[in-house]
Amino acid sequence: MPALHVGVVVGSIRKGSINAQLALALQRFAPPGFVFHRIRIDDLPLYNHDTDPLPAPVLRLRQEVVDADAILFVTPEYNRSIPGVLKNAIDHASRPYKHGVWLGKPAGLIGATPGVLGTAAAQQHLRNVLACVGMPTMPHPEAFIQCAEGFFTPEGAIARADTRVFLAEWMACFLEWVQHHARPR
Ligand code: FNR
Repeated sequence: MPALHVGVVVGSIRKGSINAQLALALQRFAPPGFVFHRIRIDDLPLYNHDTDPLPAPVLRLRQEVVDADAILFVTPEYNRSIPGVLKNAIDHASRPYKHGVWLGKPAGLIGATPGVLGTAAAQQHLRNVLACVGMPTMPHPEAFIQCAEGFFTPEGAIARADTRVFLAEWMACFLEWVQHHARPR
C-alpha cells in the first residue's frame, strides 16, 4: 500500500516556534507508511480577491494541499483565535469559490502555548473555519498543550513520559482518522 502523505501546516512562522517543534516531535510517533511534509505559508501575500494571475507561492500552496492525503494543523493562539498567517493561508487555498483544495481532506488540529488554556480558544475557531472549507476534522481526542520550559529535550523529543504517552495516543488516533477518511487522489 502506498504511503499516506500528511501536509503539516504550522500557524507560526517564527524561527523558534514551539508549535513547529511540536509538529516535528509528533512525527516521531508515526509508524512507517506515513510521510510528513511541512507546507510553507510564510511567503504568501495577503489574500486579495483581485490578484490575477495567482502568484507562485499561492500556486505552490494549492499544489501541496492537492498532493496531501490529509492535513495536520499545529497552531498557536493569538488573542483567543488563530494567527492571521494561518487564516490567510486557509483563505488562499479555499478559492476560487467551488475550487478550494481543502475540500474533503481529513484534518487534525493541535496547538501549544506557554499559557494554561493550551490554545483551546484558537482550536475552536479553527474548527469553524475547517468546517467551512469542507475538511472532515477529527473531533476527539482534543489536545491542548501547555508548553513550559523543558517541554522538549535538546534533541526535540517530548521530555515527560506521561506527555509522550498522551501525544503518541493522540497521533495514533489522528493517523487512524486519516486512514479512514483519506480519498484516493
Ligand atoms: C500570543 N500568545 C497567546 N497565548 C495564549 O495562550 N493565548 C492567547 O490568546 C495569546 N495571544 C497572543 C497574541 C499574540 C499577538 C502573540 C504574539 C502571542 C502567546 C503565544 O502563545 C506564544 O507567543 C507562543 O510561543 C506562540 O507560538 P510559537 O510561535 O512559539 O509557535
